[in-house]
Amino acid sequence: MAMKFIPIAKPILIGKEKEYIEQCVKTGWISSQGEFIDKFEQAFAKYCGVKYGVANANGTTALHLALAALGIGPGDEVIAPDLTFISPVNAIIYTGAEPVLVDADKETWNIDIDKIEKEITQKTKAIIVVHLYGHPSRLDKILEIAKKYNLFVIEDCAEAHGAEYLGGKIGGFGHVSCFSFYGNKIITTGGGGMCLTNDKKLADKMRILLNHGMSPKKRYWHDQIGFNYRLTNIQAAIGLAQLEQIHKFLEEREQISAAYNRHLKDIDGLILPPSKDWAKPVCWLYSIIINRKEPKIRDRLIEGLRENNIDARPFFYPIHKMPPYKKYLKANQTFKTAEYLSKRGMSLPSYQALKKSDIKFICQTIKNVISS
Ligand SMILES: Cc1ncc(COP(=O)(O)O)c(C=O)c1O
Repeated sequence: MAMKFIPIAKPILIGKEKEYIEQCVKTGWISSQGEFIDKFEQAFAKYCGVKYGVANANGTTALHLALAALGIGPGDEVIAPDLTFISPVNAIIYTGAEPVLVDADKETWNIDIDKIEKEITQKTKAIIVVHLYGHPSRLDKILEIAKKYNLFVIEDCAEAHGAEYLGGKIGGFGHVSCFSFYGNKIITTGGGGMCLTNDKKLADKMRILLNHGMSPKKRYWHDQIGFNYRLTNIQAAIGLAQLEQIHKFLEEREQISAAYNRHLKDIDGLILPPSKDWAKPVCWLYSIIINRKEPKIRDRLIEGLRENNIDARPFFYPIHKMPPYKKYLKANQTFKTAEYLSKRGMSLPSYQALKKSDIKFICQTIKNVISS
């Protein structure tokens, strides 16, 4: 019998997704207007405790919209972590501004807050903070720095839906927060994104920009150059159905994380996912650091898992190492922690339908590779 494949992520569409999609099909509202867009925006903003939600095409467009609406452009600098998925840095470059990369923090794997101030110049306009692999960044410290230097804070919450920082949901701390609903995210719309803000003017501006910059008062009149970053009603319908299940999803993911922790805690040199007392992380992708001496052990583990039909993935590459981004490096910058984490970090299958027996098998495979 063929061995079953265990993917790293998998959308679980077991709520009202089909019912809501059928409503779109029946009514013909399948494009970028329709009741589900408003409903999804309002419900998601409410869930995060923020006033306004602006749905758009994906997490990258959400970041680009946020930066554009904040007026960031050529001549500006924006601080971003070196260890993250590429989107925030690409979004900065799309505006014409320059990304300024900052090393990672060894404990939370997020941007190292102690290294931010050193990178601030007259040109700095904003900080993008990413809550990586489900663990919140130290938001109060970042907001303090931002206040001192009069900078905007954009939270990239793509990987941390529902996570909490000092008792408040992430996404409500920065001037704008950006979410992705790609298929591997905690809730998904297939592809989709959302910007949240408490600032009505900013929300209105983002809404105009995502619709080609079209004036809301005069159709087909453009006072500015915008983008086509619209989300469709069908995608929003899926999003609303997913949001209705988010508590359950997060609980199930918490159990998955706890099961992995139980199986892996006694293996020497494995660093399990961070969980600081000031944060309530979520299990987006259960991620670990392999702090062991054997050469290339992280890569051997990924190979060993793949040989057993289990998908696992390495951490992101440090952005400063990749050719298009090298030019943004500044003199005397070091990224030792991002480099260390990137070489030794890996993520394991994490989705609601993952069975206890799958987790046991995955962990046993890890143990077998380590002892071989
Ligand atoms: C931290 C982070 N930001 C942004 C994105 C971009 O989202 P999207 O793929 O929806 O553009 C992702 C992942 O997809 C991500 O992991």
